[in-house]
Amino acid sequence: MIRLSVNGKTHEVDVDPTTPLLWVIREQIGLTGTKYGCGIAQCGACTVHINGLPMRSCSLPVSAVGDSKITTIEGLASGKTLHKVQQAWIAHEVPQCGYCQSGMIMAVAALLRAKPKPTDADINEGITNICRCGTFQQVREAIHAAASA
Ligand code: FES
Ligand code: FES
Repeated sequence: MIRLSVNGKTHEVDVDPTTPLLWVIREQIGLTGTKYGCGIAQCGACTVHINGLPMRSCSLPVSAVGDSKITTIEGLASGKTLHKVQQAWIAHEVPQCGYCQSGMIMAVAALLRAKPKPTDADINEGITNICRCGTFQQVREAIHAAASA
């Protein structure tokens, strides 16, 4: 059994220790907001926070997480109050198909924690998530809006 802390709750899962965290989150714990895109740490669709830092869960063995605190998109809001990034996403109508967006939002939330007022260069460097719908300009606008909120 492996014990995980996800969004403030403890879960015990019976999985192979090499299983990527993404699949444990989705299939054992049932939180399907975190998406599978490439499976090779390139696209960012699977981004979650581990102790507040953005990690690509498709390439992280569950055994490597230990007692770190995992936050998924389902745990980003504070109760009924959406995170400021989620609020900016709605205000700027960022999502198109939406598939990449939970990973994008988690990456942006972590960026703003590290750099509360990111420049365009910071965004270029820090947000490498891929959006096949090409929402990059809306993402950038919403990041600046969230940073000013
Ligand atoms: S699915 Fe993890 S980075 Fe693409
Ligand atoms: S909104 Fe469709 S892939 Fe990003």
